[in-house]
Amino acid sequence: MKKLLILTGHTKGLGHAILDCFLHLDDIQIVALSRTSLEIHHPSLTEIPLDLSDLNALEACLPRIFPKGSFDRYLLINNAGWIGEVKTIGKLNPKGIQRAMNLNLLAPMIITDAFVKAYSGLEGEKLICNISSGAAHKPLPGWGEYCSSKAGLAMFSRVANEELKELGFRVFSLAPGIVDTEMQAEIRKANPLDFPALDRFNKFKSEGQLNTAEEVADKVAYLLNNPDLFLDVIQDVRNFELP
Ligand SMILES: NC(=O)c1ccc[n+]([C@@H]2O[C@H](COP(=O)([O-])OP(=O)(O)OC[C@H]3O[C@@H](n4cnc5c(N)ncnc54)[C@H](OP(=O)(O)O)[C@@H]3O)[C@@H](O)[C@H]2O)c1
Repeated sequence: MKKLLILTGHTKGLGHAILDCFLHLDDIQIVALSRTSLEIHHPSLTEIPLDLSDLNALEACLPRIFPKGSFDRYLLINNAGWIGEVKTIGKLNPKGIQRAMNLNLLAPMIITDAFVKAYSGLEGEKLICNISSGAAHKPLPGWGEYCSSKAGLAMFSRVANEELKELGFRVFSLAPGIVDTEMQAEIRKANPLDFPALDRFNKFKSEGQLNTAEEVADKVAYLLNNPDLFLDVIQDVRNFELP
């Protein structure tokens, strides 16, 4: 069964672990986008170095992202993300606001739209998984950019699923729980005056409550391999266990 995976944010953290889950499969073609490259020379992998918060560069690159050809499964995982400026409103920077919204919301919208243009009308299963966050549904002081961008992405996923089901696409907005990655390390560097929940996030790490990226990636892969078990667009890895 020939599969295509388009994955953003594959060089670190959760995205790297997702890449590892899929790269060993036979008959898969993977296109992966991050600012840096892993420089892995693997016949199934094409790496495209790109700053996804630069929307002009993204638009110019779109023709290179979607391989032509016929596949049995077409998967898109919009995973690249940034916590944004961890500061309260009144202390944010216009450039930081733009960067967070571009990377976390607008780039996934643009890539999803182009994915649908490229592959609707073709036979085969088509799945889009937007990596979300609990913060999409819960306000956290200090995370104005992050919460807003992820809330927008969750709503976009819901609209997309409604619109696209007749074209044979399923869309998920999947929260990965709390994952031990560089993003969590960046969160722990926040100024407590800007981020009142800092102590809680320090405890997640010191008390070993973080999930590994590998554990979470296995759940992302399970959901994508068993979409019929997951009826809702909004999903959270904490709500299901692997069999
Ligand atoms: N970690 C958590 O606890 C947690 C919780 C909830 C949701 N999430 C979500 O899970 C996803 C993965 O997070 P993570 O924790 O694995 O983050 P991470 O360790 O910081 O990795 C982020 C990935 O995105 C890429 N990236 C960052 N900025 C980019 C840009 N401007 N253009 C292109 N690629 C860019 C990075 O690669 P380069 O540096 O090479 O560009 C890297 O591969 C994100 O959407 C995040 O919001 C994470």
